[in-house]
Amino acid sequence: MDWGLKNRLARIIKPHSDRGVMLAVDHGYFLGPTERLEVPRKTIQPLLPYADSLMLTRGVLRTSVDERYPIPVVLRVSGGASIIGKDLSNEKITTSVKEAIRLNATALALSIFVGAPYEHDSLVNLGKLVDEGEEYGIPVLAVTAVGKELEKRDARYLALSCRIAAEFGAHLVKTYYCENFEKIVNSCPVPVIIAGGPKLSTELDALQLTYDALQAGAAGVDMGRNIWQSDYPVPMIKAVRALVHQRVTVKEAHEIFTKNKEIEKTPKPTPITNPSYPIKAKTKSTKSKKTAK
Ligand code: R5P
Repeated sequence: MDWGLKNRLARIIKPHSDRGVMLAVDHGYFLGPTERLEVPRKTIQPLLPYADSLMLTRGVLRTSVDERYPIPVVLRVSGGASIIGKDLSNEKITTSVKEAIRLNATALALSIFVGAPYEHDSLVNLGKLVDEGEEYGIPVLAVTAVGKELEKRDARYLALSCRIAAEFGAHLVKTYYCENFEKIVNSCPVPVIIAGGPKLSTELDALQLTYDALQAGAAGVDMGRNIWQSDYPVPMIKAVRALVHQRVTVKEAHEIFTKNKEIEKTPKPTPITNPSYPIKAKTKSTKSKKTAK
């Protein structure tokens, strides 16, 4: 691995903790205006200070993220199928590496669909993307997608997908948490991060899932809905961040969530809007008119 690629990876998986918090907001690429991500800028902006990196498509990046904000971008470059289409696994590379470089992307992301009708195409896409990415020192995140078959989220299937992704050269793999998660991490020679999946009933459930994944060896999260579909997204990402980097317990993380939620709920004092304030004082010149001449 060359210096540039290692440097880019270190912007995602932080060396101080060997972990990372990636905020996933790429859902629109096949789901359209996902609940609470209808106006991407509104969802993303308040969360940016608490994410190490941001995973999204070029469309949302260009339109909804301030280009002056220094956050590493993990650019989704695969797509081509929608939730109402025939087959979610029918993806191609939709954004070139040249474009990713123009957008100053730190990493490239694509989905692989092991066991699905377009398994072959998605794996060949991965191999080609790794070849191209490595040419420019850009790492590749492989997302082990399950399409609509959420029941596929078990250790046997996910270990198979993650291992295949690593064999094809992915530098980082994203998968779902499941029982026996150690099996996935131990058989995958590159760092594994977890997606949150559909919104869980409570924030505590999502924090517990995150904690369990980290305990089992996950290198962090690439989380979306369990953060921004919460009624309190900023307190939630702060709590997730504490789990990832400060290695707090679930109880401590939940306290962080609750404390920050209470702060958000506290009504802020209304600013004085009396139009007569501030009174513009009549300024007297210190110099007499005579001397001013
Ligand atoms: C799904 O394919 C997308 O790539 C999402 O980025 C991924 O599922 C993570 O988001 P969430 O935590 O909402 O599952």
